[in-house]
Amino acid sequence: MRAAKAVIPAAGLATRFLPATKAVPKELLPVVDRPVLQYIVEEAASAGINDILLVTGRGKTSMIDHFDRRPDLEARLEEKGDLDRLEAVRRPGELAEIFACRQGEPLGLGHAVSVGQSHVGDEPFVVMLGDEFMDEDSPLLPAMLDLQAATGGIVLAFIEVPTELVSRYGIASVAPATDVPADLAAEHEIVRVTGLVEKPPVDQAPSNLAVVGRYVLPATIFDAIRRTGPGSGGEIQLTDAMATLLAEGTPVHGVVFRGVRYDTGTPAGYLEAVVELACKRPDVGPTFRRWLVDFVDKDLRG
Ligand code: UTP
Repeated sequence: MRAAKAVIPAAGLATRFLPATKAVPKELLPVVDRPVLQYIVEEAASAGINDILLVTGRGKTSMIDHFDRRPDLEARLEEKGDLDRLEAVRRPGELAEIFACRQGEPLGLGHAVSVGQSHVGDEPFVVMLGDEFMDEDSPLLPAMLDLQAATGGIVLAFIEVPTELVSRYGIASVAPATDVPADLAAEHEIVRVTGLVEKPPVDQAPSNLAVVGRYVLPATIFDAIRRTGPGSGGEIQLTDAMATLLAEGTPVHGVVFRGVRYDTGTPAGYLEAVVELACKRPDVGPTFRRWLVDFVDKDLRG
């Protein structure tokens, strides 16, 4: 069965983006004119996932408002005949069915996923981290969903990172994937995962394949999370629960992603996303690019 629901854990404290994220959730920071979270929901909807559970935390309920109707605003835009903005205001509410639940305390990503259990039920599901998204021109989820439907196990996504950066990521040890359907293996770069280690020192990393924030998981992950104690940083880690299932025989595969990914969890990554997506936009892009070229040119000349 193909996963049909997604959980977006978005209850973290976002300490790497303080003080901006003291009162504004990082998931609502705008990239051009849409919040990060909308790009993520659009990514899910494009892959056929229309049931989305947002895991929110204290001070973060405005995330749900973004996907709600705003009849007052809509009426004003309609009166003014501003149909483009009217459509833009309505669009978030039309992308998917959005549900919400709270993680009472930010006890870690694994814990955040576990609060979605009653919504998810017994079927496989997607986890999409709330601070990163893939460019619409290079989708990742469809391949992951097909692979999970074929294996019934865990499907991860990897990017290759420079060796000196491995200690910032969850890193996998891998072997050739000889056990996946030939059509999938022909179309995508798929590996079988033999081990996972969270933020290893550079000299102990088994590869430079880093786990990124998209997972397709079987519902057995909930029991594994319950059996997982606090790990790295004192948090209940999803990586540890996945490592338990791997050790118990659940097949774990990864799709190596070569497309464009935006990581908006830090100011530097966020700025890259804003500049790249502003340049790509047909409306603001041409003017922004001219300004950017001019600015960089002047800046380089001092
Ligand atoms: P991060 O590792 O980016 O943590 O979590 P964070 O708290 O958001 O940010 P920093 O590291 O302090 O800057 C990855 C995703 O998991 C969610 C976050 O909201 C983010 O989308 N998360 C993390 C939770 O929902 N609950 C948690 O307890 C931890």
